[in-house]
Amino acid sequence: MTQSQILGTGSYAPSRVLTNFDLEKLVKTSDSWIVTRTGIRERHIAAEGEATSDMAVEAARKALAMAATDPADLDVIIVGTISPDMQMPSCAVLVQAKLGASKAFAFDVSAACAGSLYGISIADKFIRTGEARRVLVIGAELLSRLVDWSDRNSCVLFGDAAGALVLGPTEDPTRGLLSAHLHSDGTAAGMLSIPGGGSRMPPSEDVIAKKLDKVAMNGREIYKFAVRVLPEALLETLAAHQLKPGAIDHVISHQANIRIVESVVDRLDIPREKCWFNIDRYGNTSSASLPITLDEANRAGRFKPGDLIAMMAIGAGMAWGSALMRW
Ligand code: ACO
Repeated sequence: MTQSQILGTGSYAPSRVLTNFDLEKLVKTSDSWIVTRTGIRERHIAAEGEATSDMAVEAARKALAMAATDPADLDVIIVGTISPDMQMPSCAVLVQAKLGASKAFAFDVSAACAGSLYGISIADKFIRTGEARRVLVIGAELLSRLVDWSDRNSCVLFGDAAGALVLGPTEDPTRGLLSAHLHSDGTAAGMLSIPGGGSRMPPSEDVIAKKLDKVAMNGREIYKFAVRVLPEALLETLAAHQLKPGAIDHVISHQANIRIVESVVDRLDIPREKCWFNIDRYGNTSSASLPITLDEANRAGRFKPGDLIAMMAIGAGMAWGSALMRW
């Protein structure tokens, strides 16, 4: 049976770096508070005039080069983002145009930090059914324009970046994506949202004055939610293949908070050394986080053929899930 495998990975982060010490000058916080509570030391901030699709294209070009894939050969482009260039059209069609991927159809997925995991799962379906042979999945977020820079609860967490992967079919049953399992719980929508600027509260002076067009977050509730559902999600995916946590060689996780990832792997008795961490250098880049992490570990030569990679992500929605892949 046809399975999807990763043919190439790529990532991009803007050159401007904002450290915790820079943030100390903006809000009442400290480097030690941020590092101890989250593991974050610095994050990248997009340049003026740089938009989400610009970052997405940079990451995509690297993934396409590694996959030796011409943009013209892409069948589908999926962009996970909640910070597209504009409300309409999608970020994905802007990426399509910039890449010259004229054959591909393109669309965005809105699942916040789980966006690229959702994208991988959707791409896998197109490949398994034979409808597509080359799918570009991108996670790209420009959250620095969506956070309230006076709210220390949230502004210290996020960063701008993009990550990408190219997926294609393999007939080798020992390789590729084994499965992905996705979940949503809309009753928890209030935990993390940008309440204004949409159809319920259209942009207005009042919305802007009250900063309702910025990220509103209940960090403590998200934390509790994440450390409860992510171990369940990983166990669910492992059980689907009669595997135990001990079989996992690498954990590639969305990097929201180093303590969340450590708590999940500790609960499952997975050694922390099996995780790839980069939250110290990027902060939480939402949907970009998973593909960037995959790209870094890949380019560092971390993965050997046959290695079992567990992926997990969670974000606003709440939306979350996990996936297993044989490298
Ligand atoms: N600097 C200094 N103090 C701060 C800061 C800050 N940047 N932010 C909050 N505090 C204060 C709070 O006001 C509070 O003070 P109080 O006790 O006087 O009220 C104190 O620090 C402790 O606050 P808590 O919220 O209890 O801190 P906690 O240990 O829960 O850590 C954090 C907060 C880092 C937000 C954590 O809850 C977290 O990471 N949650 C997950 C949030 C998340 O990941 N959101 C991203 C999007 S969703 C996703 O990607 C999964």
